[in-house]
Amino acid sequence: MHKSRLVSLLLLSLVLSLLLSGCEQQNSHEVNVYSARKEALIKPALDRFQTETGIKVNLVTGNADALIERLKAEGVASPADVLITVDAGRLHRAKSLQLTQAVDSEQLQTLIPAAYRDPEGHWFGLSLRARPIMYAKDRVNPADLSTYADLADETWRGRVCIRSSSNIYNQSLVASMVASDGVDAVEQWAAGLVKNFARKPVGGDRDQIKALAAGVCDVAVANTYYLFGMLSSENDAEVKAAEQVQVFWPNQQGRGTHVNISGIALTQSAKNPDNAVQLMEFLLNEESQSWYANVNGEYPIRDNTVVHPTLAGWGQFKKDAINLAELGKLGPEAVKIMDRVEWP
Ligand SMILES: [Fe+2]
Repeated sequence: MHKSRLVSLLLLSLVLSLLLSGCEQQNSHEVNVYSARKEALIKPALDRFQTETGIKVNLVTGNADALIERLKAEGVASPADVLITVDAGRLHRAKSLQLTQAVDSEQLQTLIPAAYRDPEGHWFGLSLRARPIMYAKDRVNPADLSTYADLADETWRGRVCIRSSSNIYNQSLVASMVASDGVDAVEQWAAGLVKNFARKPVGGDRDQIKALAAGVCDVAVANTYYLFGMLSSENDAEVKAAEQVQVFWPNQQGRGTHVNISGIALTQSAKNPDNAVQLMEFLLNEESQSWYANVNGEYPIRDNTVVHPTLAGWGQFKKDAINLAELGKLGPEAVKIMDRVEWP
């Protein structure tokens, strides 16, 4: 090789390594977050982390499935260090697509009950969301309610509101039933449930609660934070509607009410893994936990953390103890069942 060419190559590599170390230095004070939560529901906690640690948080907010697609498209070049999203089914999907990596943190393992984190450490719950039955106070005696399975009984013919089967909340709920009762029993149940629909599924959970209040149906299945949101709404009509609705905790004699999580995962492409893990642990501290759960109307993931008075008013309940990773695995089976029974 010509000497001057060698010198310029050496110079080039020197410049490159200087540039890279410059990047590393800069990166060491940053963490890049892809979040599917509304900004108001997460940013204040991230701001607090930034203030307390000096690690700059760059937040990208987007639709959950779109963010997963984006991570996939960006591959190893993705700037994202962590993904924050809802539903274990989605976190499981991100893991299956090899978009996440394992974190070995004693703190996370100690603070988060085993059911609410991936057994291989690929994702961790940040908050807990319950999906119980809700009923119209003036038309339903709660003594007539018992389990999700019972909603397929003909007593409830034309009286049930629930959103479409394309929604991951229902897919995870049905997956939890498959885990407990098996495919055949759940298919029979789902067929009965569809017969009991008051109307073709339309809208989100909040719309089911509104339909319940409006007399379209007598019982509904919905996540409690939607009811919380309506009760604390500035819109009087929403508050009035929510006040006609009560929470019933199903399956209390058996496996417990279906719960899911919002959670966080370290991305496969993470350039700032140490900062990312520090952020994860920060979001599990007591202050973050009670703030995050309260602002979302969810339950803290940690045991023995005080819940919002509205949630306390709905009472304590037995939660299904299944590891949520199982729901991710059974999700596709649940979708097939719902398709077979023509749950729209
Ligand atoms: Fe939701």
